Amino acid sequence: MKQNVTLEAKALAKTYFSTEPPTEVLQGIDLSVSEGEFLVIMGASGSGKSTLLYSISGMDRPTGGQVLLEGRELTSLSDAEMARVRLTRMGFVFQQAHFLGNLDVRDNILLPALKAASKENKDAAIARVDALMERFGIVHVKNHGITQVSGGQLQRASICRALAGEPSVLFADEPTGALNSSMSAEVMDALTGVHRSGTTIVMVTHDPAVAARGDRVIYLRDGVLVDSREAGPWQAEKAQQREDDLLAWLRNLGF
Ligand SMILES: Nc1ncnc2c1ncn2[C@@H]1O[C@H](COP(=O)(O)OP(=O)(O)O)[C@@H](O)[C@H]1O
Ligand SMILES: [Mg+2]
Repeated sequence: MKQNVTLEAKALAKTYFSTEPPTEVLQGIDLSVSEGEFLVIMGASGSGKSTLLYSISGMDRPTGGQVLLEGRELTSLSDAEMARVRLTRMGFVFQQAHFLGNLDVRDNILLPALKAASKENKDAAIARVDALMERFGIVHVKNHGITQVSGGQLQRASICRALAGEPSVLFADEPTGALNSSMSAEVMDALTGVHRSGTTIVMVTHDPAVAARGDRVIYLRDGVLVDSREAGPWQAEKAQQREDDLLAWLRNLGF
């Protein structure tokens, strides 16, 4: 059965011309992400993982090739159109939450959701945010300031913010990069739940335990996709074996 393709990159290239000589960071990447898939991007530091994520999510403009989201070409959109697609069709989780210090947790989550919603849909957006906070176990800290909650709670709040607009793809760049291992597991459990409920996820990580949650891992070296590994759905009871298998594959690649 052929899966629906949600996101596609064709001959994607990114060169920074600000350096002398120019830095060719992505060198012709072809990538296809299926609807509902949890794709993980790995590679050594500096291999171009973040650049790839930013280029396929419209945060940055590639210098060559195409990106298609649900069949729509993103690379030819204006900045304003692209901003609208990001706001309404994509969710983002970063290593740091980038929340506003003068707003409480709930208002930080609500802000982009309200911006994305039409006038008639504001109440629905608010209801959705409250349901998400309930689902990810942070209702009790909704009125806390962002410095009054744990790193794990903050990342779960980031996930709520990212999902509030019902994106077709959730992009995550090192979502556990600033967390200890127990908070990291807590956030990965949340992302595994997001995946199981059908959201397409594209995540960058350098942590094999985190990467093991994905259905498929692709490996970047110097801006080139050198290998990919299909692992199928993650199961808690087989987590260790899965992580060991992934690690063996990574070691073979020189990770
Ligand atoms: N704005 C920029 N200007 C010039 N070079 C950059 C810029 N951003 C990233 N790079 C370079 O691109 C390469 C890949 O960076 P990045 O995508 O952040 O890698 P990763 O996320 O895998 O660590 C690095 O060599 C980095 O120095
Ligand atoms: Mg990076």
